[in-house]
Amino acid sequence: MKKKMLITGGAGFIGSNLVDHFAGIGYQVTIFDNFQRFGTRENASWLKSKYPQVNIITGDIRNPKDLKIAVQKQEIVLHLAAQVAVTTSVTDPRNDFEVNALGTFNVLEAVRQEGRKPIVVFSSTNKVYGGMEDIVIIEKKDRYAYRDFPNGISEKNNLDFHSPYGCSKGAADQYIRDFERIYDIPTVVFRQSCIYGPRQFGIEDQGWVAWFIIATTFGKPVTVYGDGKQVRDVLYIGDLVRMFDIAINKIKISRGKIYNVGGGSKNTLSVWSEFGPILEELFQRKIKVTFADWRPGDQKIYVSDIRKVQKELGWKPQVGVRAGIEKLFHWVQENKSLFTKLVR
Ligand SMILES: NC(=O)c1ccc[n+]([C@@H]2O[C@H](COP(=O)([O-])OP(=O)(O)OC[C@H]3O[C@@H](n4cnc5c(N)ncnc54)[C@H](O)[C@@H]3O)[C@@H](O)[C@H]2O)c1
Repeated sequence: MKKKMLITGGAGFIGSNLVDHFAGIGYQVTIFDNFQRFGTRENASWLKSKYPQVNIITGDIRNPKDLKIAVQKQEIVLHLAAQVAVTTSVTDPRNDFEVNALGTFNVLEAVRQEGRKPIVVFSSTNKVYGGMEDIVIIEKKDRYAYRDFPNGISEKNNLDFHSPYGCSKGAADQYIRDFERIYDIPTVVFRQSCIYGPRQFGIEDQGWVAWFIIATTFGKPVTVYGDGKQVRDVLYIGDLVRMFDIAINKIKISRGKIYNVGGGSKNTLSVWSEFGPILEELFQRKIKVTFADWRPGDQKIYVSDIRKVQKELGWKPQVGVRAGIEKLFHWVQENKSLFTKLVR
C-alpha cells in the first residue's frame, strides 16, 4: 500500500493535477480545501468519479482544528491552499495574510504537534524576489531580456517581498524551510513561476495563459496590461507534478532545500507579442485585445534559473511552450460546459 498523502488546496488547479497523479499511482490521497475558488467543485467531482477512494475534507487552513484532524497519520503533506492573486492581496491584505502566512503556520503547527514528521512540500512563488530593480533589462523587438542573466534568476537572488501576496507567501516560504532546521521535519520549498495547463480556471487576476484562452473561447474581452512584450518563463503542469514526485522520492537530497521551479530560460513566452500569434493560429482568426497601463509591480521580465533543481534532483521540463499551450487549448475546447458560470 502506498503512502497516505494530504493535499491542501487539492481541488484547485495544481492540487487537482497532483491528486490525479498520486491517486493514479496508488497513494491514499486526502484533499483538504475550502472550495472558495471557482472550478474547485468541478475539479473535485472529476477526481471523485475517477478515484472514488480519494477522501475529501471541506476545511479551512485558517482553522487549526480542521487541520489537526486532517494531518493525523499523514506521511506526506503537499501544501498548496492559498489566496493566489496579487491584486486581491492588495485590496484585502488581512485575508491574504491570514490564509497564506497564518494558514501555512497552522499547517506546520498541526504537523509538528502530530509528531509523525511527514514530508511537507510547499508551493511558494518567484514573487519573493520582488521587483529586482537593480537588474538591467534590455528591450528587444518583441520582448524584454536580462542583460546579464542568460539563465534567469537563481535562488541566490536577494529576497525582497513585494506586495501583500509577496510578503505572506515569503513568510510562509521561510517558515516552511525553518521547520526543517528547527524541528527536523523534512520540508521542501518550490518557488514556482507561471504554471499552466488543464484544470486551470484562470481569471484576469491570476492564471493569464488559461485566461487568454478561456476569454477568447467565449468571446470575452482580453486586456493586455503593459506593452505585451513582458516575458515569463512558463511551466506545463505535468512537468511540475513530476517535480513533486521526484522531490518526494529523493527527500534525502531535497529536504531543507529551496528550489526555483519553472520553465527556465528554454521555456519563455512574452505575454502578447509571442503568445498572441500562437493563439491566433490555434483559433484560426485575428484576436482583438485592448492594451492598458502596466499594473503596479508588474515585472518586464521574470525567468527562473532552474539549474539547481536540475543538478540536484535531475529534473527538467519536458513539455515545450507550444505543445503545452495546445494541450490547455484542447482541454478548454473539450470542456466548455465547465466554464459557463465563470464567463457569464
Ligand atoms: N498557478 C501558478 O502559476 C502559481 C505560481 C506560483 C505559485 N503558485 C502557488 O501554487 C499554489 C496552488 O495554486 P493554483 O494555481 O493551483 O491556485 P488555485 O486557486 O487553483 O488553488 C488554490 C486552492 O486553495 C483553496 N483554498 C484557498 N483558500 C483556502 C483556505 N483558506 N483553506 C483551504 N483551502 C483554501 C482554493 O479553494 C483552491 O482550491 C498556491 O499556493 C499558489 O500560491 C501558483
